[in-house]
Amino acid sequence: MGRLVGCRAVVTGAGAGIGRAVVRRYLAEGAAVVAVVRQADEAAALESEGCAVVVGDVAEYQTAARAVAAAEQAYGGLDVYVANAGLWDFHKRAERQTPQELAAAFDEIFAVNVKGALYGAHAALAALTTSLGSVIVTGSNASFRAGGGGALYTASKFALRGLVMQLAKEFAPKVRVNGVAPGATDTGISGPAALDQREHTMNSDPARMAAMAAHIPLGRVSVPDDHVSLYVLLAARAESAYVTGAMLLSDGGLTISV
Ligand SMILES: NC(=O)c1ccc[n+]([C@@H]2O[C@H](COP(=O)([O-])OP(=O)(O)OC[C@H]3O[C@@H](n4cnc5c(N)ncnc54)[C@H](O)[C@@H]3O)[C@@H](O)[C@H]2O)c1
Repeated sequence: MGRLVGCRAVVTGAGAGIGRAVVRRYLAEGAAVVAVVRQADEAAALESEGCAVVVGDVAEYQTAARAVAAAEQAYGGLDVYVANAGLWDFHKRAERQTPQELAAAFDEIFAVNVKGALYGAHAALAALTTSLGSVIVTGSNASFRAGGGGALYTASKFALRGLVMQLAKEFAPKVRVNGVAPGATDTGISGPAALDQREHTMNSDPARMAAMAAHIPLGRVSVPDDHVSLYVLLAARAESAYVTGAMLLSDGGLTISV
């Protein structure tokens, strides 16, 4: 029997990378999933696997509200909101950005990485209070140390860790709030349009991936499936009932090695 039978989940950033892997594992564990994707052409594959799909920008509150409503309509409620959608900044150093780029890229990255999670948690709170459910965000090794990105990405992922802690306090005792913090992962994560990084993808540069692997005590860059068991653990109330305010590292030892 699956570990998430009866669990109704929303997963953002569900069309690719870590979010896609979380959706697949949640479905395999028996969960019912609302997949939130940014582009309409990502919907068909998820629908064919049994997901309800919401297309939208997580920087807009209505996307979270529509996702929660879709779970209530399709599945009768919501147990887990996974705020996973994110943008990277390709280590772009602050001093190499113009003031205009800095302002626009800050707004774009924080709107997705921080505001998207805050909106999701806020929109889901009533439903999660009813179900005694939980919020799970995707943090990063950059939630704990410098060097996982540039100033904007690192600041956004530290902010996300603060958000987890604060919301865990505010939403207790009925709703738990936690995060998974992956280290370098083989995905095509992109960056903000403000830095002309919308078409860039992290794993298209073998030299970058090799440089990342060289810093990791476990000796390799991870793949999305390396992290998904932690998302199951945090979603399964019977397995993590006393865990809240936590950000669980899944980084191959990167954070402890520098
Ligand atoms: N890849 C890594 O090395 C790594 C490391 C640590 C943390 N993370 C985090 O993992 C999460 C998932 O990233 P990934 O590596 O799987 O990359 P990915 O690009 O495969 O997945 C991110 C998803 O977020 C979606 N997205 C971006 N902006 C959006 C918006 N405004 N509205 C809706 N959806 C939006 C993208 O369409 C994409 O499907 C992110 O939060 C990222 O910061 C990634």
